[in-house]
Amino acid sequence: MTAIVSAENLTVSFDDFLALDNVSIDVAPGESFGLVGESGSGKSTLLRAIAGLSPVTDGRITLDGKPLDVKYRDKAFYRQVQMVFQDPYGSLHPRQTVDRLLQEPLAIHGVADAERRILRALDEVGLGSSFRFRYSHQLSGGQRQRIAIARALIIEPQIMLLDEPTSALDASVQAEVLNLLEQVRRDRKLTYIMVSHDLGVVTHMCERLAVMKNGKVVERLSSSDLVAGRLSEDYTKNLMVASKGFVRDVAV
Ligand SMILES: Nc1ncnc2c1ncn2[C@@H]1O[C@H](COP(=O)(O)OP(=O)(O)OP(=O)(O)O)[C@@H](O)[C@H]1O
Ligand SMILES: [Mg+2]
Repeated sequence: MTAIVSAENLTVSFDDFLALDNVSIDVAPGESFGLVGESGSGKSTLLRAIAGLSPVTDGRITLDGKPLDVKYRDKAFYRQVQMVFQDPYGSLHPRQTVDRLLQEPLAIHGVADAERRILRALDEVGLGSSFRFRYSHQLSGGQRQRIAIARALIIEPQIMLLDEPTSALDASVQAEVLNLLEQVRRDRKLTYIMVSHDLGVVTHMCERLAVMKNGKVVERLSSSDLVAGRLSEDYTKNLMVASKGFVRDVAV
């Protein structure tokens, strides 16, 4: 496999604290790769390191086989890789219209066909053009997250970094947004790296996953391994027990 994204022996420290300790992952083109682990285990730090937002002190990140400068990402990188954050309230400016929010990334990247892209993105996230001139403070949490996803998609990236993209949403809205992400991935042949504390979500959305603990990857599994309970770490078993509703369907 030639990885589209790989992290090799990645280390991130905040002062003396080692938030990522020698972490390696390989993500195949078109794959959806999950990151799970208890709170504070380093999932967001890893995703942010790939996006150029964590202070990497050691290791390598490659994109399409080419090493990235670990400290600096150029615009071309963000054209290929977009990130969606957990909190749809914090990530969108409340006093801007949807139109303005969608224009912004197009302006940053100097994309010309704004009209077509805005309509396509709104359609793709299931909102439609009637939402175009609404303000983000007039939207529900689920609608905001759809706009955050539209803002990422409008650049037509190849890779999406998704940090708990639905955990702030009600269960029914969560399912809708996950289905939307899955549909978009198929339609656009995207690659996802997705953090979730919900193992049910990860087995539904991802082919393979890495289990993180204290800044390290402690286990690598396929979703079918996880569903079948083929895992070696007690820590992973405990995560399954803690992930509400998951254990019901699975023999641990
Ligand atoms: N900017 C920062 N400065 C100092 N410490 C940080 C910073 N960002 C993260 N950390 C620490 O690094 C560790 C990993 O944090 P991270 O956000 O990656 O965890 P996580 O696995 O995403 O957890 P959660 O499931 O709660 O989101 C935590 O102990 C956190 O306190
Ligand atoms: Mg996190």
